[in-house]
Amino acid sequence: MFLVSRFFIRAVGFVFFAAALSSCNLDGFFTKYGDDPVWVDPNTHSAAAASADAGGPGKDVYSHICAACHLGSGKGVPGNNIPPLAGSAFAQGDPSVPIRIVLHGFRGPIERVGTRINGQMASWKDQLSDQQIADVLTYVRSSFGNNAPAVKPDEVAAIREATASRFVPFTESELQ
Ligand code: HEC
Repeated sequence: MFLVSRFFIRAVGFVFFAAALSSCNLDGFFTKYGDDPVWVDPNTHSAAAASADAGGPGKDVYSHICAACHLGSGKGVPGNNIPPLAGSAFAQGDPSVPIRIVLHGFRGPIERVGTRINGQMASWKDQLSDQQIADVLTYVRSSFGNNAPAVKPDEVAAIREATASRFVPFTESELQ
């Protein structure tokens, strides 16, 4: 009992020490990126909530997943290795590029908005269906001032099949 409470006091002490070290910025201490991501498991997302949302199902997927890094505004955090999707040539180019990025991930180094970015985006192929990837990319390509045609689930399905043996993120030169 004595040992347990001593350990507890030490643990509490450590938390306060750590909080003080991080200038009492507990958010910054526990989250990786300097924004306000609220992770919501995509599996818990309900179709009813999606259709009630004016932005449609693509906005629903975006706000559940992509906004954690690329922000609701699509501006990303370039200083923290997250490129913007607003104005992104890759997001708006040939659909096969953003489809491959979402299916398998993407890693730097790249240069965007005058900033060198060397991050890594994870693969979403096991979490998102062809329909969800088409929806979210259609949303990204028509939001934040972007203006590119919709993406169809068939296009996602074809690239998913063609790249089925891939298990590492794409690099910029592979996508060009
Ligand atoms: C955990 C953070 C994170 C999440 C979540 C995330 N991304 Fe990314 N994304 C990144 C990073 C980091 C890069 C750049 C990687 C690099 O350095 O090359 C990137 C790059 C991209 C690019 C290329 C942009 C360009 O101009 O080169 C696209 C398109 C993209 N993401 C779309 C999405 C979509 C759509 C989603 C949601 C399904 C999403 N991302 C979710 C971190 C994330």
